[in-house]
Amino acid sequence: MSDTPTYKNILVTKLDNPKGLKVGQIQLNRPDVLNALNIELMGELVSTLESFDKDTEVGCIIITGSAKAFAAGADIKEMATQSAIDMHIRDQFSVWDKIRKIKKPIIAATSGFVLGGGCELTMACDMIVAAESTKFGQPEIKLGIIPGAGGTQRLTRAIGKARAMEMILTGRMYTAREMFEAGLVTRLADDEVFLEEAQALAKEIASMPQMALQMAKDSILKSFDTTVEGGLEYERKAFYLLFASDDMKEGMSAFVEKRKPEWKHK
Ligand code: CAA
Repeated sequence: MSDTPTYKNILVTKLDNPKGLKVGQIQLNRPDVLNALNIELMGELVSTLESFDKDTEVGCIIITGSAKAFAAGADIKEMATQSAIDMHIRDQFSVWDKIRKIKKPIIAATSGFVLGGGCELTMACDMIVAAESTKFGQPEIKLGIIPGAGGTQRLTRAIGKARAMEMILTGRMYTAREMFEAGLVTRLADDEVFLEEAQALAKEIASMPQMALQMAKDSILKSFDTTVEGGLEYERKAFYLLFASDDMKEGMSAFVEKRKPEWKHK
């Protein structure tokens, strides 16, 4: 572990990884309000994601919360007195678009409440490792609103229209196991070890060549924005482009020479 800048609402560390690049870890840290995502926290989170994305020591990123809550949603007290015009001018969810632009893989490691914007944050990540205690929900309907940070779009693509409809229209909470079976969650883990499991997955990923990792993530995300034909063309171009990387030459030479590759991440 090594030291990184101090923030008010998040704890940031870099985890050493004997197998490869380090893992950048961000812990949401507003325990008194179950990690409600206020504007200040989101600013700190996005700026740390952007700095990890540029940091050549870091190969994969984890976002986690506390035992009781990954995050119980956007900060309701901060939004409660806002008018439609205030919301439009403040446009507080536009900062979320920057998460979509992070090139390195991001894993959400969850326990406890994952509600509203908290659930949307996990879906803005690339994978979810969930402790058995995790409770997922989009309860916005009970506040007279709808998900506003991607829930109607990403949840529908992740678990299908029928399940997303029930989840968003009832505002009910669902267990980690239900969400694992629905396809939202990558891995289920015991509460005692979920973070270690997420870290092990992150370290495994961070030991892979960065250029290929980033092209793979980009191509998978592209599938949400395009036709199959357009996506196949995009994938093929990304595949061909990787033949310009040092690591493609190293990976294939190492295979032929029956040795372990030494990645340059270039
Ligand atoms: N915003 C602001 N404060 C919140 C919060 C939120 N989303 N969630 C919890 N808190 C605060 C509570 O107000 C409480 O603070 P006080 O001690 O000052 O009263 C503290 O966190 C602890 O919460 P509870 O006492 O309510 O704890 P509980 O264990 O009884 O209940 C809970 C837990 C079921 C998660 C409940 O807190 C709850 O329903 N929270 C709101 C969940 C929600 O509606 N999220 C959606 C927000 S809107 C959104 O996210 C929009 C979007 O799409 C981005």
